[in-house]
Amino acid sequence: MQRILVLAALCGAVLQSGCASMTPAVRSPSSPGVSPSPTASPAGTAAASSTALPAYGWPDAFTLNQRIGRGVNFGDALEAPSEGEWGIVLQDEYFQKAKDAGFNTIRLPVRWYVHALESAPFTIFPSFFERVDWAVESGLSRGMVVILDFHHFLPFMDCPRCERERFLMLWAQIAEHYKAYPPDLVFELLNEPTDAVPASEWNEALASALAVVRESNPQRIVVVGPVGWNGLGGLPYLSLPESDRGLIVTFHYYEPFHFTHQGADWVDGSNAWLGTTWTGSAAEQQAVRKDFESVSAWGTAHGRPILLGEFGAYSKADMDSRARWTAAVARQAAELSFSWVYWEFCSGFGVYDPAAHRWRDPLLDELLPESPQRGK
Ligand code: GLC
Repeated sequence: MQRILVLAALCGAVLQSGCASMTPAVRSPSSPGVSPSPTASPAGTAAASSTALPAYGWPDAFTLNQRIGRGVNFGDALEAPSEGEWGIVLQDEYFQKAKDAGFNTIRLPVRWYVHALESAPFTIFPSFFERVDWAVESGLSRGMVVILDFHHFLPFMDCPRCERERFLMLWAQIAEHYKAYPPDLVFELLNEPTDAVPASEWNEALASALAVVRESNPQRIVVVGPVGWNGLGGLPYLSLPESDRGLIVTFHYYEPFHFTHQGADWVDGSNAWLGTTWTGSAAEQQAVRKDFESVSAWGTAHGRPILLGEFGAYSKADMDSRARWTAAVARQAAELSFSWVYWEFCSGFGVYDPAAHRWRDPLLDELLPESPQRGK
């Protein structure tokens, strides 16, 4: 009975808070045939230069959250089934662009499980680690925070209990591999546990994964978010190990979902929402404010810093509405001392146009109003 109530409450919460993907993220490749460029540095070489601790040493979670500040997701690259399949292959130039624009942080979504053995011990392929190392170091070496995110773990969403062992064994390897990296590398345990994942299962799994991570990384800051696709409606069901203060709590915001995901090919029925605008009326602004105040209240009650880890409006919405919405969300997050990371850099929500090699100024203006990269 209780379980039914929890599930019902979760479904309600998801409806109320929206979610990044109401249906499993099935994508059609936007640029078939693009293959990853093997720009990875040999394992260990660049890693050695990034192992020295910065002068400020290990920060607490609130300090690190301030350093995260304003960031951008490098989405649709390393979390595609293989890099390039969704049209994006990470380039050194992208990290430099993001740095020059004034972003403090790169969030790196990674689909780990497909680059590992399918059964125990689930060994992650060394060549994939090399590619991720290159990306991590490309951010860290520029003085940016890198959030290494465990993205699109689809089997776990279907059966979290069956996948617990794989989840923990993958994390044991990732944590061990990056244990000597500096504090500006942050781990994120799991992107968007869906509403098919009961909160009780997620709370158990996250505590176990955290225990595994802490064996090799006792002081590293770890990001964790609620069920319901990391929507704010899942926060009341999130239970964290009380004594672990090295945590930042994340949520994703795509409200109103019919506006931000209009025409998204991975969301069933979203073509019907095409033409939905966001005018920035008092009522629209107030809706964002109300949502964010509830998150802020949760953070205060639990003594946890808050990261808005994803927000963005898809390119099928009109640019004026996207810019207005992006401004409102970023400003209100900052007012409540949330760090934020825009979704995303150069794909369907992109603030940067990789074909034209220039920023989309209406979005950049709202994200980083003082950016010297305007017009570049
Ligand atoms: C989530 C999904 C990602 C999607 C984004 C926006 O992060 O994992 O695939 O693009 O939300 O819908």
